[in-house]
Amino acid sequence: MPEFSIGEHDFLLDGRPFRVLSGALHYFRVHPDQWADRIDKARRMGLNTVETYVAWNAHAPGPGAFDLTGGLDLGRFLRLVAEAGMYAIVRPGPYICAEWDNGGLPAWLLRDPAVGVRRAEPRYLAAVRDYLDRVYSVVAPLQVRHGGPVILVQVENEYGAFGSDKTYLEALAEHARAAGITVPLTTVDQAVDGMLAAGGLDGLHRTASFGSRAAERLAALRRHQPTGPLMCAEFWVGWFDHWGAHHHTTPVAEAAAELDALLAAGASVNVYVFHGGTNFGFTSGANDKGVYQPTVTSYDYDAPLDEAGRPTAKYHAFREVIARYHDVPGEPPPPAPPAPAFGVPLGDAVPLLDAPGRWSAGVRHDALPSLDEVAGAPRLALFTTRVDVDGPAVLCFGEVRDHASVFLDGQPVGTLRREHRQRALGLRRAVGELAVLVEDHGRVNYGPRLGEPKGLVGGATLGGVALTGWEVRPVDAPPAPWGDAEPVPAGGPVAGPVLLRARFSPPEPADLHLDTRGWGRGVVWVNGFCLGRYWSRGPQRTLYVPGPVLRAGGDEIAVLELDAMTDPTARFVPGPLLGHTEA
Ligand code: GLA
Repeated sequence: MPEFSIGEHDFLLDGRPFRVLSGALHYFRVHPDQWADRIDKARRMGLNTVETYVAWNAHAPGPGAFDLTGGLDLGRFLRLVAEAGMYAIVRPGPYICAEWDNGGLPAWLLRDPAVGVRRAEPRYLAAVRDYLDRVYSVVAPLQVRHGGPVILVQVENEYGAFGSDKTYLEALAEHARAAGITVPLTTVDQAVDGMLAAGGLDGLHRTASFGSRAAERLAALRRHQPTGPLMCAEFWVGWFDHWGAHHHTTPVAEAAAELDALLAAGASVNVYVFHGGTNFGFTSGANDKGVYQPTVTSYDYDAPLDEAGRPTAKYHAFREVIARYHDVPGEPPPPAPPAPAFGVPLGDAVPLLDAPGRWSAGVRHDALPSLDEVAGAPRLALFTTRVDVDGPAVLCFGEVRDHASVFLDGQPVGTLRREHRQRALGLRRAVGELAVLVEDHGRVNYGPRLGEPKGLVGGATLGGVALTGWEVRPVDAPPAPWGDAEPVPAGGPVAGPVLLRARFSPPEPADLHLDTRGWGRGVVWVNGFCLGRYWSRGPQRTLYVPGPVLRAGGDEIAVLELDAMTDPTARFVPGPLLGHTEA
């Protein structure tokens, strides 16, 4: 069996120089029935390697749980890479950043503030070791020397941007070795001297992340990695989007010229990302550099393969660049036909505040809990309590993370948004049932806010007096499907929070693009599969529906609208609408 190693100047596959031409493809962002298709398209662009992170919190919804099935079957994903004749790079973190909720760290682990974050703190390290054991038991037998595809394993992720605890990095490296990882271990850091110095460890091969100015960045990397191959382990060819901002694109010619510069310099590369996929469900992360900025549902990233797995102009340009240096296989994939366009009226409206019991039984909490303190740690929950102040009063929360809609006896009385640092609301008269619909819009995935609690944090007061006696209901999963009766269309505009449904059958089996224009803010499920969040503030307008989620005998869509819908129709359009760009 071959060995993969690091020589004086090159990566060596069985002793021969090997240039890594890799593309990032996160299995946890792509429907598992589409993995083989995306991998094949990576090969046909001229790549020889597929790279993936491992998202700890996706595999481990709670302490002791670890799921390696279905869309989380990492072993199957890696075997498909091998079947395509390609190699694999695995980046198990434990922290991955990646615009992924909490940078991949399980929120349940960090609930105890005594647990350290990304440092050699015993409780944190014990959990990390347990996690890595599970991952490496899949990865170790799939290394090249055992006939598998895995040639490199990365330790941590851009650690130099966060800390400088070398004992921590050493513990991660030692643990990988103890778990039977024999391929070279790498680190990645932004191509800045301070970060490369803090994030690297002797004995681990240093790589850099950047998207432009290749010569300058490779020179910085060389100062810290004096021998061996130069690798841009994250060549950023696009970027991610935040709600309320523009859709990011990078000019094709510029991205192709940067790739050309990297290859001309003899460097190895991992295109970040080759195919981004989707932050399905409640998996998207957020940034916060003073202002909280939640990441959108699409992870299209303006990548060579778009969110629906279709080759873009960037794909063809990159293939041409790679062909200048290496053989690329036969023909590129043919263009995909447009998705079917059709619409169905949404109906059978179930207002949440009228029938909260349809969602879940309420649980009593005397003091106001954060979302993390509620059983199941929901991402969306309804909090109710009785209030009785017969006159004006100010309702005040410690902090709102990230969005609270407030109702008094079913009437909307205001909204509090984290981005605006809002935490108080004046009421003319506060008598009746107070209901607060609380939304977590994604955990910060970069910087010091990892692991922060979500929801209403720090208690609630009304007129300066603590509010107690709360009933809390998770509403982040739709109530059980209704019976056989045909849904009654809503007809006109609908005020949320409300659940709407429809049945539909696409004219042919295909991926779909659900148009959310005319809707406010909410969450969509198709046949129980959560497509993710939508929001009228954009930039993203359509939600991607992977074809394999659809069923031959007819489909069901459920929409939880939290704001208001002007047009309660589920309209499917021929292609994605990711919103306005900067120019
Ligand atoms: C860094 C991280 C990645 C990702 C990119 C931006 O390079 O390592 O996980 O967050 O930034 O997309």
